[in-house]
Amino acid sequence: MNALQKATKKAKETAQTVIKKAIELAPDSWIPGGVPDPLIAHKGGLIGTSVSRVDGPLKVSGTAHFAAEIAIDRMVYAALAFSAVPRGRVATLDTSTAENAPGVVLVMTYRNAPRMQPSPVFMSSAKAGGGDDLPIMQDDQIHWNGQPIAVVLAETQERADHAQSLIRVTYATEPAVTVFENSKADASPAEFQGEPLLLEIGDAEAALKNATHKVDVVYRTPRHNHNAIEPHATTLAWRGDDLIVHDGSQAVSHLAWSLAHVFGIDEKQVHVTSPFVGGAFGAKCLWQHQVLAAAASKLAGRPVRVALSREGVYRIVGGRTLTEQRVAIGAQADGRFDALIHTGFVPMSRHNNVPEPFILPARSAYASKSFKLSIEATQMDMLANTFMRAPGESVGTFGLECAVDELANELDIDPIELRIRNEPEKDPTTGTPFSSRHIVEAYRAGSKRFGWDKRNTKPGIRREGEWLVGMGCATATYPYYRMPGGAARMTLTKDGQVTIEIAAHEMGMGTATTHTIVAAERLGLPMDNVTFKYGDSAFPGTVLAGGSQQTASIGGAVIAAQRALTTELLKIAAKDSPLAGLKPNEVGGRDGGLCKLNDPQRYESYVSLLTRARKNELKVEATASPPLEFMHWSMHSYGAMFCDVRVNAVTGEIRVSRFLGSFDCGRIINAKTAASQFRGGIIMGLGLALMEETQFDERNGRIMNPSLAEYHVPVQMDVPEIDIIWNDIADPHTPMGARGVGEIGITGVGAAVANAIYNATGKRIRDLPITLDKLL
Ligand code: MOS
Repeated sequence: MNALQKATKKAKETAQTVIKKAIELAPDSWIPGGVPDPLIAHKGGLIGTSVSRVDGPLKVSGTAHFAAEIAIDRMVYAALAFSAVPRGRVATLDTSTAENAPGVVLVMTYRNAPRMQPSPVFMSSAKAGGGDDLPIMQDDQIHWNGQPIAVVLAETQERADHAQSLIRVTYATEPAVTVFENSKADASPAEFQGEPLLLEIGDAEAALKNATHKVDVVYRTPRHNHNAIEPHATTLAWRGDDLIVHDGSQAVSHLAWSLAHVFGIDEKQVHVTSPFVGGAFGAKCLWQHQVLAAAASKLAGRPVRVALSREGVYRIVGGRTLTEQRVAIGAQADGRFDALIHTGFVPMSRHNNVPEPFILPARSAYASKSFKLSIEATQMDMLANTFMRAPGESVGTFGLECAVDELANELDIDPIELRIRNEPEKDPTTGTPFSSRHIVEAYRAGSKRFGWDKRNTKPGIRREGEWLVGMGCATATYPYYRMPGGAARMTLTKDGQVTIEIAAHEMGMGTATTHTIVAAERLGLPMDNVTFKYGDSAFPGTVLAGGSQQTASIGGAVIAAQRALTTELLKIAAKDSPLAGLKPNEVGGRDGGLCKLNDPQRYESYVSLLTRARKNELKVEATASPPLEFMHWSMHSYGAMFCDVRVNAVTGEIRVSRFLGSFDCGRIINAKTAASQFRGGIIMGLGLALMEETQFDERNGRIMNPSLAEYHVPVQMDVPEIDIIWNDIADPHTPMGARGVGEIGITGVGAAVANAIYNATGKRIRDLPITLDKLL
């Protein structure tokens, strides 16, 4: 950075700080959500009921077509060859045998690939979606072990795969940083979303030193790979200079814009569809395979399908990076915190910007007299790491919530009681009020239902035959966000049918169903009269399915669109209409029409309104209110996690035998799919606690276990009955009163399991996953 860049950055930061402060201090009524939406109080409708998935029949009957199932005329199949060294350059590359193999249409390498811009790395601008910003097959340079070095197109997948195996390559290697410990020498302060991951209030180290009771320990979490049930796949074709892309994506607008940037065309020339996604979890936006498929398609003049093998996903799609976390808490004899310290290291690559932000939970979880939170990022020659369900919180709550348990043990205070004694009245690091925080109620309801009073406070004493039995708990937490860009198109026809179009995503979590509910409820229509269309970059909005904020983002867009539609309907209402003279904020939807909110007898149906005005349809498009609420209030989803574990005293085998999640996530919109999200998160958390670990060979930067045979995730027999409850207290300051439910389920699970294992065995394991060898 030169002096001018530094000054510009400084000025931007100052402006941001001023704006942030202004939003914090503004009167509530100026903030979206400051005047709660009247529909939040509306009970007895669809919201909160248990609704089966609208896309369920398509999925179970096999008529839902995923990206790798869409066929295009004259389509060819792609296979990728991956580098086997972490850094250096391609010395020799012989593709002749592959080119002459049966069925081969094209072999593309850096020698013949078209000229392209690097992908814009995610968060570098509003619609940037790249996992890294490296040149893609533009030169002979190798940046990580697993980087694509050739693409083969052939008439069948088998022929492409075979030809790929015939490519001969040698490398001129260069020194690489592949040992985490060595990378620490060049660590530097990490930034996340343009803000430093650094926060100091008071002198926490001094407070820790003087504290009468303390813990000061180091926790470690390993690399994790993405393993969505649907591996990454894209089927695409060029139509002249326009690119048609069928993808499994959690960000269709970002993908379209970013691909347009790479190929130097207008974003409108790229059309992305993504009607069904077999899980994404942070991994499905833009990685090199889509760019390579599009480039190869251009060269070959044929449509291309690239469906990554499971190994392919491990080689070129980033996962969660490892963390090394120091957690230190200094407390008084009554348990109140004087110092909360959470610091440490995360390695990243040189070509991305996701320093796994594990200190985020500690910013708002507990009251403390002083804080020191910081992350230093190191740089390694490896595949760019990325977002993975609850980036930061999933592993950050492991360190923080284990340390709280360790302190409770040291103080001989019940760990739930210790948490309650440190419950903050307002956000402890920003001073802003909480929008709605009922974590204590979640703990009380959970501990009663789980039978927490039956826990032995002394560890290692309850034994049933060979099995040591213990109980643990931990706090779950994930922030509420709403990203800018929420927009919707709403079309009402004179038969009372409504279609909503938003460039949003259904990745299996129930979006299509939830938002049919939201729209039907707001419009006062039965679900059957509402069609929610999504997964298409041609639709309005830049709605990312990430950060557990898609529901809020869509809610904001649907509210805006319904308001716009209401305005139009009031304009066309006849003079003798019971609605005549009313203002948009005085009316709401009911029974297939509009009514005055505090006088529901003043009502006219949509059919009547349109028919009398001789209109076949009304179409509106609207943008959600600016998402300022989470800068004005401290907004988070919360949960209390409880589990029983059984540890075999002879073999060390660990079984989680019972699990309960008690949640405080605002108003729940669809009880069925929300419970499923919580449960899925918890199952993923069990994997994080007990088995998931990317084996990274520090000698050469190679991932050694790129398959589900060697990278373990929980299977049926690993998962106990998971009980889910929630308090359903609406958050007055969000659209629909709801906060996110997608990511919170994985948070707190690692700590709840580790704390239960300690209670069962008296052994404190501070590095994940907790495998049996660590207990023997
Ligand atoms: Mo998520 S890691 O916000 O898809």
